[in-house]
Amino acid sequence: MNKIADYDFFDYDYQKYWKEREYENESEKLVLGKIYANKSGKWFLDIGGSYGRLAPIYSPIYERPVIVDYSLNTLIKNQNILKDKYPSIELVAANAYKLPFKENTFDGALLIRVLHHIENPDKYLKELWKVMDKNSYYVQEFANKIHLKSSLKAILRLNFSFFTKEPYQQPTKGNFEGTKSGEEAMFYNYHPKYIKELLKENKFTPVKKYGCSYIRSSALKKILGQPLMIKIESILQVLFRRSNIPPSVIYESIIKKDIETNVEKGNCLEDILACPKCKGDLNIQNTVAICRKCKSKYQKKSGIWDFRIK
Ligand SMILES: C[S@@+](CC[C@H](N)C(=O)[O-])C[C@H]1O[C@@H](n2cnc3c(N)ncnc32)[C@H](O)[C@@H]1O
Ligand SMILES: [Zn+2]
Repeated sequence: MNKIADYDFFDYDYQKYWKEREYENESEKLVLGKIYANKSGKWFLDIGGSYGRLAPIYSPIYERPVIVDYSLNTLIKNQNILKDKYPSIELVAANAYKLPFKENTFDGALLIRVLHHIENPDKYLKELWKVMDKNSYYVQEFANKIHLKSSLKAILRLNFSFFTKEPYQQPTKGNFEGTKSGEEAMFYNYHPKYIKELLKENKFTPVKKYGCSYIRSSALKKILGQPLMIKIESILQVLFRRSNIPPSVIYESIIKKDIETNVEKGNCLEDILACPKCKGDLNIQNTVAICRKCKSKYQKKSGIWDFRIK
């Protein structure tokens, strides 16, 4: 069984993290704006989407966006705000390793700032592939193990083994995202080559690479100010798109599947839900869903379906 970053366990408030990170937020939105400029589709999945920071990007483009997150509390807290702003959005509590959706459902999906919490990305990608439709697009961001600053540090320390493709677990000291200061936190940095190969092994076809947050530095933020930072960022995003220097790397992939075309997809959330354990059909009555195959029982809690299993 894989470890899960359970934000509810420590009552971690992720929204606060963004208070002083407007530059990082804007740089991600800059890249995503380019990626989603020519997309369209029906069902869309934001895996580990939390309080919906990125909903303004995909909600105007996909008819039925779904945020899935392991933090039930975050979804309960934010459901009214999100539903008011984006009436067609759905929120579901579930584990990225065990998605509660029917196969071949989604026309698009993204996972931003979550892979560092996924210790088995191979298992996760296998699960995701099942629920993606043919010719759908998947956008995968990850913390880059070999970005400029950490590569320079490794060279200065003559630590050349640092450059292998193996994932790197960041020391918990000073980095306790999802937990409390001093607690052990899961934070993996990945090598771009490792992720690209993993995507290919799992039948995702990478079509484009992007980078962002090139000049992430609190000193530069103070000296340059936000508007200039973003101007510089937009130039660097073009010049160094293919390089491994940014701290955050994004791969856009297409999913090709040899399946029937034009299978009618439902319009309601309940039409696309399936048992996360066995992918069996669900018998849904009010706030209870029972799997017709394995008989597992799931409940809707304060308006949110809770399909979290480990
Ligand atoms: C750092 S936040 C990123 C949120 C959002 N993607 C963003 O960029 O604003 C990580 C989120 O991933 C969720 N998460 C971590 N592990 C997960 C898992 N195994 N399944 C589903 N969600 C998970 C956490 O609950 C948290 O909301
Ligand atoms: Zn089942």
